[in-house]
Amino acid sequence: MDVVAHAVSAASHPLDPLSPDEIAAAASIVRAERNLGPGMRFETIVLHEPADASDRRAFVSTYDIATGNMFEATVSLTQSAVLSWVPRPGAKPRIAPDEFLMAEDLIKKDPRFIAALALRGITDMSLVCADPWSCGAFGHAEEEGRRLIQAIVWVRNRPFDNQYAHPVEGLTGLVDINAGEVISVTDTGVVPVPRGEGNYSERFQTTWRKGLKPIEVVQPEGASFTVNGYGVEWCGWSFRVGFTPREGLVLYDLAIQDGDARRSVMKRVALAEMVVPYGHPQGVHPRKNAFDCGEYGIGVLANSLTLGCDCLGTIHYFDAYVNRVDGTAMVIPNAICMHEEDSGILWKHTDFRTEVVDVRRARRLVVSFIATVGNYEYAFYWNLYLDGTIEFDVKLTGIINTAGLMPDGSVGRGTLVAPGVVGHIHQHVFNVRMDMAVDGPNNTVVETDMVADPPGPDNPWFNALRVVETPLLTEKAAQRRTDPQASRFWKIVNRERRSPLGHHPGYRLVAHSALRTPAHPDSQVGKRAGFVTNDVWVTPTRADERWPAGDYVNQSQGGEGLPAWTAQDRKVADTEITVWHSFGHNHIPRPEDYPVQPAVHCGFLLQPYGFFDRNPTLDIPPAKSAHSCCA
Ligand code: NI
Repeated sequence: MDVVAHAVSAASHPLDPLSPDEIAAAASIVRAERNLGPGMRFETIVLHEPADASDRRAFVSTYDIATGNMFEATVSLTQSAVLSWVPRPGAKPRIAPDEFLMAEDLIKKDPRFIAALALRGITDMSLVCADPWSCGAFGHAEEEGRRLIQAIVWVRNRPFDNQYAHPVEGLTGLVDINAGEVISVTDTGVVPVPRGEGNYSERFQTTWRKGLKPIEVVQPEGASFTVNGYGVEWCGWSFRVGFTPREGLVLYDLAIQDGDARRSVMKRVALAEMVVPYGHPQGVHPRKNAFDCGEYGIGVLANSLTLGCDCLGTIHYFDAYVNRVDGTAMVIPNAICMHEEDSGILWKHTDFRTEVVDVRRARRLVVSFIATVGNYEYAFYWNLYLDGTIEFDVKLTGIINTAGLMPDGSVGRGTLVAPGVVGHIHQHVFNVRMDMAVDGPNNTVVETDMVADPPGPDNPWFNALRVVETPLLTEKAAQRRTDPQASRFWKIVNRERRSPLGHHPGYRLVAHSALRTPAHPDSQVGKRAGFVTNDVWVTPTRADERWPAGDYVNQSQGGEGLPAWTAQDRKVADTEITVWHSFGHNHIPRPEDYPVQPAVHCGFLLQPYGFFDRNPTLDIPPAKSAHSCCA
């Protein structure tokens, strides 16, 4: 196991993420031209997209904690100038990691909070954990104009103990992070704090399972990929790696080699938003509707990965650079992992007459990052396969957001996972934004259903099936949901081209993790996360239409993003299109999810469909592992 290479320094390609120096320079340029005073903070400093090859540009969003005013700037790093300055009235920036700790510090010093904890026998404040949660927009008059964090409270039994085993139910506090002020402390009544142990960490584990012998990944000739800056080539695939504080990993210009031609598939793809609504109607819990991209920034929360633990084999790491609120850069070393994995058989056939056996091994290139959002971990994997398949796989792990019992001792809307500890019902809904470019820029989505023919002279044995293909021509027509009865999928095709077989080259979206969100239209999710209502949306590609729940999601009123854009009902056929896919995990917690959750998966596939004229992997050489032996 070894590290192939490390970080890249200066920008060598227009799509390279901003370097730490470029992040700091963008902040300095904005400060020099548009200083907002001592309360000036920076929400976002990223590469401006679409990237300009002749002028290196940054997008900057900045705000003033004294006034709450927010502005967006386009900054030329080449010319050291602010090119545009746009006020965003009413917008509230994301909650930054520095602000998490500030909010916790403030609430833990509040006498009302200290007194409420004392009623529960908790007096050692060093053991108290007040997790900072986004607040949503509930229309309470005292919250108007403020930028808020809601504290949800747990306590450790001793240092390093898992606090999520000990929810302090009924107690919460509201902090204005711009004013640096605790607005209120709410105590709905003392519920006994469960004190049973719920530890998972190595330091607490006293016995270990025996009999696990090492499995080592050996790549004696190194990895099959090559890396040039942020550009990657692997077994016919090529793409560029990017990273933003809000989305985390971005892939650009995904293309695959076909004979002498390099054929494009996607121009840009990234996780665009996610929301985690909780289903318990009392206390602090209706507040819990976390938009982990729009409210916190899933990229800012990326882990530094550990060699030999998070991914195995011959690894290439990319560092990530994100801005802090003071305009300086934070380096997240080894934020993105890239490696190859064996993935079983690619194909096999035994000619039973000749007894000739052909089998080929499949492998995938995995590009991934893992984010820690408070109690929870999300691991995001883009898997590229030899046959042209693209897979997005999300692993959900970490610790469920625990709660205590109801005042009457009942469990409420959840599952008892330990004595006195409840995991409330919730969902995780993701939305991925895909700028498609299947065999060229102009694409069309075609919905494909399989239906049975009615009985009749042409169907005497009632077996006739037919494929019904419906091109989705406008935005409203392209708001679609899965239909298991019709085994529905969607093809993204280029209708300007035909293969020698006569097919429009395409990729199909297999939406295997679609889920329904039974949210009321007037709920926080109903109003603010409109993207959950359809599994597929299609829009004409616009650089300024990036965020499916709106540009600024923190305490947003809703109605922005996909529902608003698609109300225009623009044409989405034979043009540059963006496909948005919502999917997720329905989480009714299990006792087995506690105290730390074995990873569960959700995601989707994009498979070539008439893109190639035949199986494109006949040229994969047979291989026999030299390390395989009989036990
Ligand atoms: Ni969950």
